Amino acid sequence: MLLAIETSCDETSAAIVHQGQVLSTVVSSQIRLHTEYGGVVPELATREHLRNLQPVVRSALSQAGIEIHQLEVLAATRGPGLPAALMAGFTVARSMAFALKRPLLGIHHHEAHLYSPWMDPATGRSCFDQWVPNVSLIVSGGHTLLVHVPREMELVVLGSTLDDAAGECFDKVAKLLALPYPGGPVLDQLAEQGNPAAYDFPRSMLRDSSDDFSFSGLKTSVRYFLAARPGLADDPAVLRDLCASVRAAIVEVLVSKTLKAARRLGVTCITASGGVTCNRALRRDLTAACSRRSIQLRLAAPAYCTDNAAMVGILAERQWQRGAVSMALDEEPLPGWTLDSLRT
Ligand code: KG4
Ligand code: ZN
Repeated sequence: MLLAIETSCDETSAAIVHQGQVLSTVVSSQIRLHTEYGGVVPELATREHLRNLQPVVRSALSQAGIEIHQLEVLAATRGPGLPAALMAGFTVARSMAFALKRPLLGIHHHEAHLYSPWMDPATGRSCFDQWVPNVSLIVSGGHTLLVHVPREMELVVLGSTLDDAAGECFDKVAKLLALPYPGGPVLDQLAEQGNPAAYDFPRSMLRDSSDDFSFSGLKTSVRYFLAARPGLADDPAVLRDLCASVRAAIVEVLVSKTLKAARRLGVTCITASGGVTCNRALRRDLTAACSRRSIQLRLAAPAYCTDNAAMVGILAERQWQRGAVSMALDEEPLPGWTLDSLRT
């Protein structure tokens, strides 16, 4: 019986995992709190984590129908993330491990994302029996990563963003268009009724031979475009076309570079996770591109795209079953922990 805690950014989450089954997942999102500032305020996020951690852990235990003394292993996201936010969740897990005399596992947040496409929130089950070598796209507000996973627990980071993350680009462009925070989902919704070919925004590094991404040029291009045409986005039809055109530029780069990497490496499976994987156009276009090339696609379910402790718990349990040892209780979170440094 394992309790996992996730507090790397603005979601306070706890989950109970037992023999590959997620018995409960509780997520308390802080989106409303940060809306007024147009982005995550680390100080506020930490205060909110501290306030939410106890009730979130308690409801994860009660929803799973277990008592605290039944916990056998504790796990928490160790990094990367906001330093004080990570410290909040990690300290709770560490204190529980100390008090209950149980082992503690510190989990890499991005490695946990790699597990979410194999998990089903409806049943709580995972399907690792179907696991195959894959190329995995992790796209959220804080990260854009392309990872080759030749064997479970082995990974090679192929590329990442050189500047803004894909979700950050969605959010910053949405802000330029005066849409509410977080802009990604709102822009996505408006784009559904817009014309993606109405405006031609840059597809940065599309033809580049590397697997890296860059999204700040697109954001700057939208800024200059709007500055030269004051009031243009006030017209609702134009706004929808702008949203659709920006979304098309981001999604084309993500889809094309992911498929190119999969083809080059000869893998027959692509997976995707992270908040931006909720994007409708990304889901549609990845589905269409993979089906044309007979590549199996596993998209994380929307409930597991965004940050959650279930993916942390599932990874922690698999590590534990493979002989991972407990951390020393004086070890600290690693806010700048890179996936590269994990293992190759
Ligand atoms: O994984 P996540 O919840 O948090 C981290 O950043 O770690 O991802 C949040 C990001 C935000 O940038 C948000 O705007 C973006 O995911 N996002 C979307 C959509 N839903 C969430 N971006 C585009 N379209 C969406 N439907
Ligand atoms: Zn994340």
